[in-house]
Amino acid sequence: MAAEVAPQVVYPKTRRIRFRFGEPEPMQRYYINDDIAFSHLVGILSAAFPPGEEFFVRAVRRYGAQMTDPHLKKRVAGFIGQEMTHGMQHSELNRKLASVGYSFQFIELLGNLADETEEYLDTAYPDARLLRLSRLSALSVTAAAEHFTAVLAERLLTRPEIRELMTDPEVRNLLNWHAFEELEHKSVAFDVYRAVGGPEWLRISTMRAMAAIAIPLFTVGVWISVAANDPEGRKQPLRLLGETVRLLRGPFLKGLYTERKPYLKRGFHPDDIDTSAVLDHWRDELFGDQGQLVDHLK
Ligand SMILES: [Fe+2]
Ligand SMILES: [Fe+2]
Repeated sequence: MAAEVAPQVVYPKTRRIRFRFGEPEPMQRYYINDDIAFSHLVGILSAAFPPGEEFFVRAVRRYGAQMTDPHLKKRVAGFIGQEMTHGMQHSELNRKLASVGYSFQFIELLGNLADETEEYLDTAYPDARLLRLSRLSALSVTAAAEHFTAVLAERLLTRPEIRELMTDPEVRNLLNWHAFEELEHKSVAFDVYRAVGGPEWLRISTMRAMAAIAIPLFTVGVWISVAANDPEGRKQPLRLLGETVRLLRGPFLKGLYTERKPYLKRGFHPDDIDTSAVLDHWRDELFGDQGQLVDHLK
């Protein structure tokens, strides 16, 4: 009888990497294809990553003691290392964006509000069942967010027309690297949720809620961002409107709502969407012998 072969486990790798924004060319105000709406959207996402990814890490780390599978523990360690590095490098970009006039205080306010709500839920309920539900909810939000980041990551890495819009080369490098690592760890939070007994009804209803608000939130976020800190953009409302429509109908965001569908099925797993060929290609492209980002590694 043939010996049983253990499934191959791929561990997300924490890479020590550093990006230098604004070099050699200075950062432009509209650094994404001279497009006001797209530049603000990427700015919003970048501003949301450091607090958002910290939230994801906390949501997963809380269950560290309950995890018994050594493979899952090792994947979680890789996930945490990658997300922390993403947060640090996006903070670098955010500082550079601040130097050309972006300010994302409303994201900071939202982040603080989420932190306080989380802290309140963590301490206010002596009832163990409610505490478990609030912690599982944070984990289900993380797993759903990871699905969307994986969808956007796959789009970026498989559609050259999206990468061509990333006209600032170092921002493009950052997004390629971040997207690649998001695909590397796309199923970790999901597997933790499953391992600790997270119910399907909560996972699916969390996705329903998040998918419903994602596009309106992005759209309103872009407009608030322009209204709050972009005098040039404010003077060009028709251009902004046209670019917003183009953004929503363009290859990066179009059909994003539909991408929730597989996740809503009972029994879904992120690895049902096979992205291994994309990972193989980009591992070589970014970090192979002639890799585009080898010189960025510390
Ligand atoms: Fe990330
Ligand atoms: Fe992630």
